Amino acid sequence: MRVLHVIGARPNLMKAAPVFRALAKQPRAQQNLVHTGQHYDANMSGAFFPQLGIPEPDVNLGVGSGSHARQTAEIMTRFEPVVRQRKPDLVLVYGDVNSTLAASLVCAKLLIPVGHVEAGLRSFDRAMPEEINRLLTDQIADLLFTPSEDGDANLLHEGILPAKIYRVGNVMIDSLVDMLPKAIMWKLGSLPERYALITLHRPSNVDDLKVLKSILEALLEINTQLNVLFPVHPRTRQRIAEWGLTTGKLHLLEPIPYLEFLALQRRATVIITDSGGVQEESTYLGVPCLTLRENTERPITVSLGTNTLVGQDKKKLSAELSNIVAGKLKKGFVPPLWDGHAGERIADFLCRFF
Ligand code: UD1
Repeated sequence: MRVLHVIGARPNLMKAAPVFRALAKQPRAQQNLVHTGQHYDANMSGAFFPQLGIPEPDVNLGVGSGSHARQTAEIMTRFEPVVRQRKPDLVLVYGDVNSTLAASLVCAKLLIPVGHVEAGLRSFDRAMPEEINRLLTDQIADLLFTPSEDGDANLLHEGILPAKIYRVGNVMIDSLVDMLPKAIMWKLGSLPERYALITLHRPSNVDDLKVLKSILEALLEINTQLNVLFPVHPRTRQRIAEWGLTTGKLHLLEPIPYLEFLALQRRATVIITDSGGVQEESTYLGVPCLTLRENTERPITVSLGTNTLVGQDKKKLSAELSNIVAGKLKKGFVPPLWDGHAGERIADFLCRFF
């Protein structure tokens, strides 16, 4: 069984690593990693491989940044000859980034089976580029590995055959469970006892001057009662610089490696984010999370977990934050099958399937 994993953007690495490691224990599995190069800065990509215990990619397509059309087309053009040459039995794609859709489209046309890991998630907001990637990838993938019950329901509602759907749990949480003991040991040095940890990169939050300015103002206000630690995504850093926005005494950091970021998350008083993965990780860790989005493709983090959607409503953000600072916390639970074994379930399934 020859499996080719496609990764492109930072969160793909945490999702692919547990599947890669579980398949490595199966004698019949031969594996290759293809990195599209969608993310290319060392601290957005290269730094993660050794921490996650997976080898460097066999192939890097080096596509880099660009508009959605250019980036997607470039990945397709560069990926097609790799698939033709390697003739895998299965291509595994992860999450909802442009690399996920581009690789799936190439394989669908070449009649190479595709497995989508983290299938079925829906925000029902088609203004989000990731929602388009999710919808289309799930329509053309052959095997759909879902993290939670809502994923199955969404796929069935879209007419996907039940026989293609396998609920395996959350692979991102596998990486977290694996790394948590090391993160617990991590010395956070001179960090404040209580802090708010921020991540921000969604186009709807950072590509609009008024919105980004208003979020930064809200963060500056929060910083007066709770230290704000803000590892800044390259997209966000570019916008702040381009528009000359004030970040005052906010503690801005470069994007940080996975282990250190986990250590920061588990000790945070509150996490304020627009990331998908961070909503899940904070739910697992039981840390309060305020999500700066109107909707989420991970509703289970709100219904069961510690996540609260605050959108772009400054008043709601401030009210929720005051509750958290005062110790009035939303009670959360870890969703079923978020247990550190999703990658193994995928590997077991594939070995039976092939
Ligand atoms: C992408 C994904 C998003 C995911 C995020 C994780 C899509 C549509 N979006 O968003 O779902 O949550 O990754 O981080 O696939 N840049 C660098 N260095 C890098 C990478 C990016 O400087 O290593 C800059 C480039 O100027 C680029 C911009 O950041 O134009 C945005 O990168 P891009 O890959 O287009 O999207 P992300 O915002 O990272």
